[in-house]
Amino acid sequence: MYVKQPPMGWNTWNTFGPEISDRMIRESADAMIDQGLRDAGYEYVVIDDCWSKRERDPETGKLVADPEKFPNGMKSVADYIHEKGLKFGMYSCCGVRTCANYPGSFDHEFLDAETFAEFGCDFLKYDNCFRPASANSPLLYQRMGTALSMCGRDILYSACNWGSDDVWSWIRSAGAHMYRSTGDILDNFKSFTDIAASQYDKKLAASAPNCFNDMDMLTVGMFGNGNVGTSGCTEEEYRTQFALWCMASTPLMLGCDIRKMTKETKDIVTNRALIEINQDPDCRPPFLLNNQGERKTYAKRLANGDFAILFLNFSDKERNGYAYFEEMGVTAASGYRVQMTDLFTGEEREPAREFTTVSVPEHGCRIYRAKLVR
Ligand code: GAL
Repeated sequence: MYVKQPPMGWNTWNTFGPEISDRMIRESADAMIDQGLRDAGYEYVVIDDCWSKRERDPETGKLVADPEKFPNGMKSVADYIHEKGLKFGMYSCCGVRTCANYPGSFDHEFLDAETFAEFGCDFLKYDNCFRPASANSPLLYQRMGTALSMCGRDILYSACNWGSDDVWSWIRSAGAHMYRSTGDILDNFKSFTDIAASQYDKKLAASAPNCFNDMDMLTVGMFGNGNVGTSGCTEEEYRTQFALWCMASTPLMLGCDIRKMTKETKDIVTNRALIEINQDPDCRPPFLLNNQGERKTYAKRLANGDFAILFLNFSDKERNGYAYFEEMGVTAASGYRVQMTDLFTGEEREPAREFTTVSVPEHGCRIYRAKLVR
């Protein structure tokens, strides 16, 4: 299986935690279509932790769906999702139990991979709790990588060891298509900006097609509600989160209740111009153009020769952001000017030479697509 672009979808964990059910999943699959998410490129409907019975089937040793949450079984949920033209994701863990204390796949990797294939699963998120002390993380991720590749079905392998053990240095060789690079996101400004800061500048260079750095599920649109809801974020902060995730070409896995998004949330997460930046076929990492501490400017080189430019202002007042085009290789002697289009408002700026200044809202961003023109 070859995963060319950062996967896009929705995952239950951020909003629902353990409160998952057949009905809620079907309604969310419906929402993927009714809210225009499928048309914008979102594809995977992923059930996170807490879907199984507390113990394996005593006779077959297999994982079994909790009959109270999923009275029709998992295959029926998968069929429903597939009928909608979507793909189905599930969750397990490389330790003996999952993080929420359900059976994990340790020593059952091959049986479980076959079970996920029987369920009709297209995506497996694989967590890192309750590992026996003698079993190191790279080895256990290798095992599931092999089990998935032998299970007879294409299953996208989404590793989740929270960035531990220098995951970026070995996870591609374990067969993963994406890998969590940080601890869990919470729905507040500090959490998502800390996550981005920990990956931008250095770690994103190892992220590329077929094995993407995953900065965790988005909290855009949660407004403090649900399982990882804390203080919540403002709309401006959510725009900034989405822009940071797009520039990083990190998977776009929504985490809000997609059945009940506000218009503003929908506008953010279905912004085609931004999604194009995220899905750019080259998936090149952003690089720093200007650093003023709480204000930073990043650029990302795109496959067609354009750049994306992101101005960030993490201070608590509106401030100017700067971009020096020299840092993008656009010298004054080249004769090129840089023409920027705002990806949230569509506003086009006058082509500029050498540098530009942009006013950036507090805890906010401005993001542009930039063309070189003579
Ligand atoms: C964490 C993981 C979360 C979620 C949770 C489920 O380890 O990072 O994204 O899957 O476990 O218990």
